[in-house]
Amino acid sequence: MTHVVTESCINCKHTDCVTVCPVDCFFEGPNFLAINPDECIDCGVCIPECPVNAIFAEGDIPQEEFNKWADINSKLSTRWPVITKMKPALPEAEEWASRKDKLIFLKKE
Ligand code: SF4
Ligand code: F3S
Repeated sequence: MTHVVTESCINCKHTDCVTVCPVDCFFEGPNFLAINPDECIDCGVCIPECPVNAIFAEGDIPQEEFNKWADINSKLSTRWPVITKMKPALPEAEEWASRKDKLIFLKKE
């Protein structure tokens, strides 16, 4: 089990989530954070910290959707560096907060 970061994070990347994670399992890409499933202890404290409600536990979203994001988080978190300190959100975070279908904009490198 793990929690997953989902689409709403893309191009927002507020990073409030990293300040509360007790096991430092957030990893940073250019426009998205990913949770490492092997490190997440499912405490859930990051969920209310995200201003755009991007983080979910299994069972909180449809299983197919959860599985898709679990796969994305798992793959990307092993490529990216850990992030433990909050930093400014991306410049156009406000505009992107209300956008849908953002997966095509996820930058993996
Ligand atoms: Fe970290 Fe807990 Fe969120 Fe998992 S659920 S990413 S351990 S804060
Ligand atoms: Fe992303 Fe929300 Fe964290 S926008 S960086 S999951 S606070």
